[in-house]
Amino acid sequence: MAKKEKYNVAVVGALGIVGREMKSTLERKNFPVNEFRPLGTKRYEGKEVIFNGKPCKAFQADRDTFKGIDIAIFSAGGAASKELAPIAAEEGAVVIDNSSQWRMDPKCPLVVPEVNPQDLDWHNGIIANPNCSTIQMLVALKPLHDYAGIKRIVVSTYQSVSGSGKVAFNGLKNESEEFLSTGKVSNTAAYEQQIAFNCLAHIDVFQEGGYTKEEYKMVNETRKILDKTIKTTATCVRVPVFYGHCESVNIETKNKITREKAIELLEKAPSITVMDDPENNVYPSPIMTNNLDNTLVGRIREDDTIENGLNLWIVSNNIKKGAALNSVEIAETLLQRNLV
Ligand SMILES: NC(=O)c1ccc[n+]([C@@H]2O[C@H](COP(=O)([O-])OP(=O)(O)OC[C@H]3O[C@@H](n4cnc5c(N)ncnc54)[C@H](OP(=O)(O)O)[C@@H]3O)[C@@H](O)[C@H]2O)c1
Repeated sequence: MAKKEKYNVAVVGALGIVGREMKSTLERKNFPVNEFRPLGTKRYEGKEVIFNGKPCKAFQADRDTFKGIDIAIFSAGGAASKELAPIAAEEGAVVIDNSSQWRMDPKCPLVVPEVNPQDLDWHNGIIANPNCSTIQMLVALKPLHDYAGIKRIVVSTYQSVSGSGKVAFNGLKNESEEFLSTGKVSNTAAYEQQIAFNCLAHIDVFQEGGYTKEEYKMVNETRKILDKTIKTTATCVRVPVFYGHCESVNIETKNKITREKAIELLEKAPSITVMDDPENNVYPSPIMTNNLDNTLVGRIREDDTIENGLNLWIVSNNIKKGAALNSVEIAETLLQRNLV
């Protein structure tokens, strides 16, 4: 039972790609909102955001703007979360943070509600929402891990540009238009190299051993959320797709799992839709996830190059399950567990 009938909810970064989706997710899921408070940078101060048909004034996020807030959902980047999430928590709000700032902090639970809702019970005011690629992978792998015990994951991602925010989203649009009309791209505003009609094996900054930070996020977040013994190796690639991330995932399990058993388990799992009918060319693609909450899984094949191996193709909407939807589901789970 929730403690209150309705809650005061702030969204920091409310006018960004994820923030807008956050607002519409709260609306369409009928989240019990008393006051909706959109927070942003100075340039949005005073702007009106319509929530459930009512105009709500946006404020520049600072200490005072969290007063009276029960739940503060952050999607404004790491710097804003680092500075403002502890302030919001001090003011009494439960923070759900979409940036990578708090994910590996041992005091902060990192939660996918279908996988580890119990971790919400030990929150200290700040809860981290995992990386978009980690969320969709783990929501699909959880039932397979429970059945067969995953030892190792080899994943390659194909990630859309909306995953890098509105500058990158507009960058793909502008580059595509320019390339189609002139045959070249004069200004690569979104990434180091042209993204239109290209693929970039580079997401977030390069780190030790030649891996990127995005690749390490998948390795470390999988351990924190699902099982600390799982070994993961990742290659993360940005592709010229507007919405939806795809993943080619190979798992090695302790016990045998057949294609038929995997399909049976995934069909019963929450938030998953199996699309796997090779004879009729049925398999998931990112465009299918434009208006979809569920994560799609297809191309399920036994890998007979190892003793117990399975290949899967996992596709999800990075703005929904990868960010806004998972955050709102965390908020719903907090209410169900009486934690706000
Ligand atoms: N896109 C995804 O698929 C995805 C998935 C998971 C997590 N995330 C995370 O979610 C966050 C937002 O991503 P996004 O894609 O929505 O980016 P975005 O489209 O660039 O939006 C970010 C918004 O936050 C605002 N902002 C920046 N600094 C702020 C501050 N100090 N105080 C208040 N507002 C501030 C920005 O305002 P201005 O317009 O004035 O700069 C902008 O409106 C990032 O941390 C990202 O890593 C994104």
